[in-house]
Amino acid sequence: MARARLSLVLYLVCLAHTVLAQYTGYDYGFDVRTRMKRQLGQLQATVVQDKSGGDIYVRQEIRQLEQDRDVWTLYILGLSMMQFTDQSSPTSYYGIAGIHGMPHQTWGGVKPVPGSEDTGYCTHSSVLFPTWHRPYMALYEQVLQELIQTIAGFWPAPERQRYQDAARRFRIPYWDWAATPPSGESVLPRSIGGSPYVDVEGPNGLQRIANPLFSYTFKPLNTTAFNYRPWNYWTRTLRSPSSGGPDAQSNNSQVAMNLDQNRPSIAQRLYTLFSSYDNYTTFSNNAWGAQADSIEALHDTIHTLTGGFGSSVPNPGHMAFIQWSAFDPIFFLHHCMVDRVLAIWQALHPDAWVTPSPALVKSYTTRQGQIQDANSPLTPFFSHENGTFWTSAEVRDHTKFGYTYPELERAAASTADKTVSRVTVQAVNRLYGSFSPASLFLKELRAQGFKGDREVATAGRGTGRTTDLLPRSFSLTESKIFVGDRYHEWVANVRVGTQALDGTFVVHFFLGDPPSDPQAWPSAPNHVGTMGVFAAAREDNRDNEGQGGRTEMGAHGHHDLAVSGTVPLTAALVKKVAAGELESLDPADVEPYLRANLQRRVLGPKGEIWAGEECMLDMGIQIVDSQVRAPYNEEELPEWGEAKVSFEMC
Ligand SMILES: *[C@@H]1O[C@H](CO)[C@@H](O)[C@H](O)[C@H]1NC(C)=O
Ligand SMILES: *[C@@H]1O[C@H](CO)[C@@H](O)[C@H](O)[C@H]1NC(C)=O
Ligand SMILES: *[C@@H]1O[C@H](CO)[C@@H](O)[C@H](O)[C@H]1NC(C)=O
Ligand SMILES: *[C@@H]1O[C@H](CO)[C@@H](O)[C@H](O)[C@H]1NC(C)=O
Repeated sequence: MARARLSLVLYLVCLAHTVLAQYTGYDYGFDVRTRMKRQLGQLQATVVQDKSGGDIYVRQEIRQLEQDRDVWTLYILGLSMMQFTDQSSPTSYYGIAGIHGMPHQTWGGVKPVPGSEDTGYCTHSSVLFPTWHRPYMALYEQVLQELIQTIAGFWPAPERQRYQDAARRFRIPYWDWAATPPSGESVLPRSIGGSPYVDVEGPNGLQRIANPLFSYTFKPLNTTAFNYRPWNYWTRTLRSPSSGGPDAQSNNSQVAMNLDQNRPSIAQRLYTLFSSYDNYTTFSNNAWGAQADSIEALHDTIHTLTGGFGSSVPNPGHMAFIQWSAFDPIFFLHHCMVDRVLAIWQALHPDAWVTPSPALVKSYTTRQGQIQDANSPLTPFFSHENGTFWTSAEVRDHTKFGYTYPELERAAASTADKTVSRVTVQAVNRLYGSFSPASLFLKELRAQGFKGDREVATAGRGTGRTTDLLPRSFSLTESKIFVGDRYHEWVANVRVGTQALDGTFVVHFFLGDPPSDPQAWPSAPNHVGTMGVFAAAREDNRDNEGQGGRTEMGAHGHHDLAVSGTVPLTAALVKKVAAGELESLDPADVEPYLRANLQRRVLGPKGEIWAGEECMLDMGIQIVDSQVRAPYNEEELPEWGEAKVSFEMC
């Protein structure tokens, strides 16, 4: 069988600029600004509220939320209203998105440290990466909730009560970029990428408005603050833009293809993070350490693919660069998922948490090299009016913000046990295990009606969708994928200097020769996976400065900073075993096979291609294997042995 089937989902692309501009916000039939004066006054308050003791509702996957029509309507109207709130308000969409990177301005009066004025508040390559984004998402959720509660009050009785009830249970949705999408659909939901407009049945009837999930339109674009090309003339956020010109259009079909093609890689990475990473420091961020992957590195790849970094079209969109990414509405769906991954990982590793580590790069309020720990302030997120900030220690329990996630809610309901929840482990196996040999093993046990001292927990109530790896006809028992209950996992560990290529870039891996046309890379049948490095757009795009990025980089010695990530190879190798092109997963077979067949291509931010010489660009690629013990039921995770370096590609 070839690799995972690509559902060819086509999205509207060719709408002229002027056509898009005709969609606006919702017309409530009265001046919303006057009616909302009171609420807008409250919204000036920038404290991220502690909701301990209040209602806890589940943050749903976006496709799930869409089924709850009343909440969905409120979500679309609320986000639209937030995007149409005056940009000077700190709680406008512009104000909240602007905390992350550009426009590099003070929020809530929280001042930069000297030398950091040219960056945003977000913490990257830092132990605070996952925890900083937790109060950030809570702030975004809080602002949306307030708008939504107000909007619910605009319906006449008797519907008003229904919408007010729906408003109470509204929590921001996450976008699961790793789970199997519904049959025939892309990883990229249609609600996000399908159309620049949306029909919404609001309190003043059915109206067609600008789809607030498709793009954010600057109102207006501040070309003084956004002084890099092409962001100083792109008046709305774009994904995989059709050109670098002012009339560029988003190509969400390209983004969908990037994501669908990489889902085996993304799902394997996530499953591995849950099952084999137990050290918070390593798990939390992409700084090169004992293990090469991290939640941040996986998140980086999603940023680059969503921005449009797949083929050689040299125009990545907003999501692909740190300083613009938060303006694309998909950013908040993505980061809600990142927060969920953190929450699930915490449930699996209740004793692991932030330990002191130096920040690899600076942020608006921290210096490079500064030691950060669980009590470092997560600026600019105030926990009290008196100017205290949230800390990682204080956000360890996410439920104090009034939300939880489906897997954790069911876990809480099903057991009072303090040990790792079986329900959570089951969810991880079901949602993310389908490209792991572990799923084959579990399926085989079920097929054989395995009954042992450890009973197969889910026998008889499986979903029938246990593995995406192999066709039904394939006989596991005759294959050499397992020796007993052991198998080998193969991973390419990639280490790079973040600034090695002057900004964001991706590394593609292939088994065999890649197509000569880079346009065909993301959809090539022998494409194994993409690792993206999410960086800032380089300053050589700046209109009013002539200096080249490389000169500056050399002067600051940035090339010494290494980040890392992985591209899993196992699923692709299993398919080669099934096809008879590879004998087994054993190092004696796999190492020579990979030496002969594994190829990589590096794609730079302007479409530059490196086919082999990237070893000179501060890049190290290690092929490692680990022996793994398969789980005997869905309430166990694979147990990873030590990683051994098989060989180095550079
Ligand atoms: C535009 O950005 C500049 C530079 O950041 C800032 O000084 C100015 O106040 C901004 N203008 C508006 C209208 O927000
Ligand atoms: C969008 O991307 C798809 C997939 O690469 C491609 O086939 C299509 O031609 C692109 N559309 C436009 C308008 O560029
Ligand atoms: C986690 O990894 C870090 C960095 O490699 C190391 O300093 C720390 O001791 C590890 N923590 C534990 C609990 O093993
Ligand atoms: C701020 O207020 C909180 C809650 O009242 C209190 O615990 C904290 O000590 C105060 N911090 C300062 C610096 O006053």
